[in-house]
Amino acid sequence: MQQYSRVAVFGGVYNNHLSLREAIARAREDKAECMYCLGDLGGFGPNPDKLLPILLEGNINVLQGNYDDSIGNEKHDCACGYTDPKDNHYAQISYDYTLAHTSAEFKRYQSQLPTEYRFKLGKYNVLCAHGSPRQTNEFLWYTSTPVHFLEKLCDDYRADVILVTHTGIKWHRALPSGRHVVNVGVIGRPENDGKTNVWSTHLTANDDLHVEFLPIHYDHESLAAEMKSEKLPPEFVETIRTGWWTTCLEILPPKERAMGRY
Ligand SMILES: [Fe+2]
Repeated sequence: MQQYSRVAVFGGVYNNHLSLREAIARAREDKAECMYCLGDLGGFGPNPDKLLPILLEGNINVLQGNYDDSIGNEKHDCACGYTDPKDNHYAQISYDYTLAHTSAEFKRYQSQLPTEYRFKLGKYNVLCAHGSPRQTNEFLWYTSTPVHFLEKLCDDYRADVILVTHTGIKWHRALPSGRHVVNVGVIGRPENDGKTNVWSTHLTANDDLHVEFLPIHYDHESLAAEMKSEKLPPEFVETIRTGWWTTCLEILPPKERAMGRY
């Protein structure tokens, strides 16, 4: 098993090739020994094929999210786990666009990605998953996922640290047992906080675990213009320009929803 003392981990690229480049640059600047991407490469943004050379050149360890499984295996939807018809309507627009604009080579790459990674960070056994270790499209939230359930995931999957993404909102829970669960956030779209930056996560372990959420700034106006020229929904462009989510809000628990504008 690989042993590190400093790693950069991010998720939810959502076709955002500009923020992906910035996240990689920040990881290198910060002397991360390795980079992990926890999946969901496609959706939401423009021109999916721009990601592949960046991922390969960056030597990123990419894990297969629900989106990557769907695109890689040409399924009929993204399996994001939405239950509201409006959420599914917008998700399907994104998905149909991404599927139609992803090359056979990139689909093959996505179909062959692993569904978990394990490594040692200092003394900690780290497990990387997409939504949760037990279900790819499970949503884990800071406010509404019980601590005893997070402890059980650490027990069941023999991990001291579990890293996930999928929800779009970062958080870190230090558990009473001394273990940790971290949602590393996403780099593809802002976090529904009225700011245009996205987030990457850098983790360091000497004796204790140190989790640092780093704001990633990128040329969001340029991405918005590219989305517009690809005729993606104006609601998606608005999110990139304003930092507020306009769609797929029904999955948010009440506290997370109350933090947004819509
Ligand atoms: Fe996902």
